[in-house]
Amino acid sequence: ATVYILNGPNLNLLGTREPEIYGATTLAEIEAAAKDRAEKLNLAIEFRQTNHEGVLIDWTQESGAKAAGLILNPGAYTHTSIALHDALKALAIPKIELHLSNIHAREPFRRTSFASPAVDGILCGFGAMGYVLALDAMRRLIDKRA
Ligand code: DQA
Repeated sequence: ATVYILNGPNLNLLGTREPEIYGATTLAEIEAAAKDRAEKLNLAIEFRQTNHEGVLIDWTQESGAKAAGLILNPGAYTHTSIALHDALKALAIPKIELHLSNIHAREPFRRTSFASPAVDGILCGFGAMGYVLALDAMRRLIDKRA
């Protein structure tokens, strides 16, 4: 089974972007760790990043046709995108919303997520490790459906 791991705007800058909040791990390093974990879980991953809202929506739709599950870090589109909310609503596969930082412990505008009401579960505040934890959780969600 393949799991899509989609990353939204500015996550390409991980490693140098506000490292006190997001850590020093780069997105490439996160991808490598996720791939490693996925192999142990007998999963394949499709790992992508985009700065464009429409592309994120295209890929979210695509995951419905090609993947057994979706792990999504929508970046700031979390807090703004009704279009992404609608795309997630339309998606029948298991979905996990993921954030490196604890969005509830930061600025008030990060406490609202348009993604949260449309996903199975939410993981935030675990930094780069969150991607590995989300894969563990996704394995269980996929097994539960089978
Ligand atoms: C983020 C949290 C968002 O509020 C922020 O806009 C991001 C990253 C995270 O992973 O912690 O770009 O999704």
